[in-house]
Amino acid sequence: TKIYAYAIRKDEEPYVHEWKEAHKDVEVDYTDQLLTPETAELAKGADGVVTYQQLDYKADTIEALDKLGIHNWSIRNVGIDNIDLKKAKELGFKITNVPVYSPDAIAEHAAIQAARVLRQDKAMDEKIAKHDLRWAPTIGREVRDQTVGVVGTGHIGQVFMRIMEGFGAKVIAYDIFKNPELEKKGYYVDDLDELYAKADVISLHVPDTPENVHMINDDSIKKMKDGVVIVNVSRGPLVDTDAVVRGLDSGKIFGFVMDTYENEVGIFNSDFSGKEFPDKRLADLIARPNVLVTPHTAFYTTHAVRNMVVKAFDNNLKLIKGEKADTPVDLDK
Ligand code: COI
Repeated sequence: TKIYAYAIRKDEEPYVHEWKEAHKDVEVDYTDQLLTPETAELAKGADGVVTYQQLDYKADTIEALDKLGIHNWSIRNVGIDNIDLKKAKELGFKITNVPVYSPDAIAEHAAIQAARVLRQDKAMDEKIAKHDLRWAPTIGREVRDQTVGVVGTGHIGQVFMRIMEGFGAKVIAYDIFKNPELEKKGYYVDDLDELYAKADVISLHVPDTPENVHMINDDSIKKMKDGVVIVNVSRGPLVDTDAVVRGLDSGKIFGFVMDTYENEVGIFNSDFSGKEFPDKRLADLIARPNVLVTPHTAFYTTHAVRNMVVKAFDNNLKLIKGEKADTPVDLDK
């Protein structure tokens, strides 16, 4: 049995080796390259592939694996928005993802950043760095005084809700799929408009589906409270960035947490130090004291990365053996 893994980073290598050690009967090989029509050939002879990338897996890539007779495919992350699922289904692929590698990693990041925006920490840090140690005007808002509106109550949304409640915030939520437990406890508002009208902090924890694209736009921002804090650690396309810039400029938005960005592919997780920065709008956002930009690193913890690797390999081996995988991707979606 052979598994071939793509785009293995240095920080993932120890976990690949750990898995290899625990599965001596499985041949494991890997590359740091992405899976493309050209690199598919590297997996020749393998029974399954393990991948992670943000670049689209288009039909030509999927066809290249098909030509090699490889149909067991495990991705190491949650999001499946970059896979041509129709093509994969047509060619008889079995796909798994890792929907729960560490919801805490992402939720914790969202909570920390939201709290930092409320306390105006970035502005205070900038003052301190200039040896200006005065208090005013960087006065904070306490989390317990906020109504936090959570859009999407899956694994990540639920951990985020717990953390914010730990701070003492009032939490309200919206989801098209209602969790019965949360519903019983009365968390859900009737619609997004109600959430927008009531929440001081709005955090997105929904997938990038066609219905969700630009759900944060001029229109929805208009419905929000003055001084709202918006948190997007989910997917860039959920937010119309230009609309948020307008909201920040007018003062309607108090602060913005962005760990994902609609133009992030090829920019996040790249080094532009000493080089020309490729995105003016992003450079402007990074420079603002009330905007916290992180390059899609909410997930990036040792706990999460280990689980992503180990769970993806476990899943792939199950697919290869014809067993039921822990977390199969529904290709009919
Ligand atoms: C996902 O798991 O879908 C993520 O967004 C994290 C990824 C960048 C590794």
